[in-house]
Amino acid sequence: MKIGTLRAIAHNIADSLGSGVGMLIGVYGMNVFGEARKSPRGTICVDFLMGKATSGRVSPGLAAAIAKYRFALPTLCAKHGASIEDFKSLMARYSLGTSERRIVVTVRNRIGRTYVDEYIGTPARHLKVTDSLGRVRTKRGGVLRLQIVASRRPSVAVELETKRLFLVPYRDEHLSGLSAMNSDPEVMRYMSGRPETLSETRTMIERVKARWAIWGYSWWTFIERQSGEIVGAGCIQNLRRDGTEPEANCPLEIGWRVRRDKWGQGIATEAARAMADFAFARLHAETLYAVCDPENGASSSVMLKLGMRYRGLDVWYARQLATYEITADAWRNARANMV
Ligand SMILES: CC(C)(COP(=O)(O)OP(=O)(O)OC[C@H]1O[C@@H](n2cnc3c(N)ncnc32)[C@H](O)[C@@H]1OP(=O)(O)O)[C@@H](O)C(=O)NCCC(=O)NCCS
Repeated sequence: MKIGTLRAIAHNIADSLGSGVGMLIGVYGMNVFGEARKSPRGTICVDFLMGKATSGRVSPGLAAAIAKYRFALPTLCAKHGASIEDFKSLMARYSLGTSERRIVVTVRNRIGRTYVDEYIGTPARHLKVTDSLGRVRTKRGGVLRLQIVASRRPSVAVELETKRLFLVPYRDEHLSGLSAMNSDPEVMRYMSGRPETLSETRTMIERVKARWAIWGYSWWTFIERQSGEIVGAGCIQNLRRDGTEPEANCPLEIGWRVRRDKWGQGIATEAARAMADFAFARLHAETLYAVCDPENGASSSVMLKLGMRYRGLDVWYARQLATYEITADAWRNARANMV
C-alpha cells in the first residue's frame, strides 16, 4: 500500500477527532485540544489502532469517542482501498499552542517505515515552515526539527548543550557512531547483556524518531563538541514494565550510556544534568526515576551524584532493577549546590 494513502487515512482520522465533529463515529462535541491543554504535559497522544489515549488526561466522553475510532478505521481504510493491516502504528499527538491547534501524526507501515506529518489549525493543514533560504515550504514526512520558542512543552525534537557536549535527538546519520558503542559487549553488559547488531541500532533510531514526534522527548546522541565524535547517548522517557515501547502510565526515567574509552570523565553526569533540567524545566516533571542492574556500580554512582534517592528493587523492563528517584524540589536543591 502506498505510504501516501496511509498518510491520507491517518490525516482524515486525526483531523476528525481534532475537529470535534466526529462524523466518522457519530459523536459530536469532542474537545481534544481543550483537554490536551489541561493535561499535565499539555498534550494528548492517541493510538488509533488501540483506540485509546496513551498519554494526557482524557475525559470519559473523549475516551469513549477515541475507542470508537478503532472500529471506524477499517471502513475508512476500505474506502481508500487499504486495510488496517497496512498500519503497524497510527498515532497522533494533539496540543494547543498559544494560538493554534497542532497535530503530529505518526504512521508506521507494514515494513516498519515511519512517517511523521505535522498539521495545524482546523481543518488540519500541513505546517508551513521557512527553510534556510527563507522559502516557505510545506512540512511533510520525516521527523521535524523546528525551533522551540516558548511553548509549555516542546512539541518536537529538542537539542541540548553542555560544556563539552551537544545532545542531539537521534538521527539517521548517528547510526555508525551509536552502533560502534552499542556493539561493545562491555557497554551492554548490564542492559541486554549482549552486543547490539547494526540492524537493531537502526531499528532503534527509527523508533526513537517516532517517539520524539509522539511524545516530545526520547533519546539523544551525545556528541563531543571538540571532536564532533559520538561519545554516548541518553534519554528521558517513560519507563515500561515490559514490551518495547515506553508506557504512558509509568514514571519518567533518565538514562545514559557512554562509549567505553570515554568512561570515568564525568560525561554521563554532565549530560544527565542537562537532561534532568530538560525534564523538570521543560516537561514540568514532578519526579524522575532512574533504574539499573543492582550490580551496575558506575550507573548507580551517577544516580547518587545527581542527588537521586534509592527506592529499592522494582520490576522494569521485565527485570528486577535498582530504582532511584528525584523530585522536582530535590532537583532544585541539588542543582543549587552543583558547580
Ligand atoms: C554508567 C556509565 C554511563 C557512566 O558513564 P561515565 O561517563 O563514566 O560516568 P561519570 O564519569 O559521570 O561517573 C561515573 C562514576 O562512577 C564511578 N564508577 C565507575 N565504575 C564504578 C563501579 N564499578 N562501582 C562504583 N562506582 C564506579 C566513577 O568513579 C564515577 O564516580 P566519581 O566521579 O565519583 O569518580 C558508563 O559506565 C557506561 O556507559 N556503562 C555502560 C552502559 C550502562 O551500563 N549504562 C547504564 C544503564 S542503567
